[in-house]
Amino acid sequence: MKISNDIFSLRDDLKNKNNVAFVPTMGNLHEGHLALIKQAKQHAEYVVVSIFVNRLQFLPNEDFDQYPRTFDGDCDALNKLGVNHVFAPNEEILYPDQQEFLLTLPSIADTLEGKFRPGFFCGVTTIVLKLFNIIQPQIAIFGKKDFQQLHIVKEMVRQLNIPIKIEGCEIIRASDGLALSSRNGYLTENQRNEACNLYHSLQKIKQEINAGNKSFDTLQEAAINNLSQRGWKIDYLTIQNRNTLRTANIKDKNLIVLAAAWLGKTRLIDNIEI
Ligand code: PAJ
Repeated sequence: MKISNDIFSLRDDLKNKNNVAFVPTMGNLHEGHLALIKQAKQHAEYVVVSIFVNRLQFLPNEDFDQYPRTFDGDCDALNKLGVNHVFAPNEEILYPDQQEFLLTLPSIADTLEGKFRPGFFCGVTTIVLKLFNIIQPQIAIFGKKDFQQLHIVKEMVRQLNIPIKIEGCEIIRASDGLALSSRNGYLTENQRNEACNLYHSLQKIKQEINAGNKSFDTLQEAAINNLSQRGWKIDYLTIQNRNTLRTANIKDKNLIVLAAAWLGKTRLIDNIEI
């Protein structure tokens, strides 16, 4: 497995490769990330994984400094999976100057995650576009755990005519249902035991809707009240149209329930497709 810190040696290695799959990450890899990589391997001869904690997508008061960095362990896991190349640049390589060219995003980027983390999707799309330009893969894999991120990246690629296929990977969960996340490591033991109830609330809504309940507002309110009573602080918990990510209409067939909520100082996100 090759490891590059600079763009020049990465590009040199990729020069004659025309079947490359790419998985962008911020490191601290868990089984969720590894599932993306296994999926990438099914599509391409050559798999590139990037590890870069992207300052541009963190708000000033967020956990950029605290974000877990476990480079050696990550490389061991990637090596075992048969990844071909790890791109792990530092900030001077990707942001040698202040990043002044930024994308103007559609209004969907101001909803859900974007409403609570202003600028987040500008930071994400900027780094993803830079990595796409550097690596020029044929396919890139993103997790459905960050469903809105996947949606926005797909839209970016479509509207900017970027010749890369974007594929989603199913959410990988712990045995109690909690979606795996690097931020789960911030939870205390009690919070970790409580954390699976976010997913259980989403499952309950899915069961109700599948049983014919169309009272979306009531279902959302009940879930929010229940979680609030258990000590959660909810940013949003909402039933949306899965294709547009706009608020669901009772006639919509493809739905998704998306949620972001805090347990103490830790913010968790999850979703369930219906
Ligand atoms: P990061 O949080 O490291 O996630 C990297 C990729 O792994 C994302 O596509 C994310 O959706 C996916 N992922 C994380 N947990 C998952 C789980 N439990 N199941 C399935 N997929 C999961 O997302 C980012 O980094 C950054 O925003 C990035 C795209 C790298 C840009 O900086």
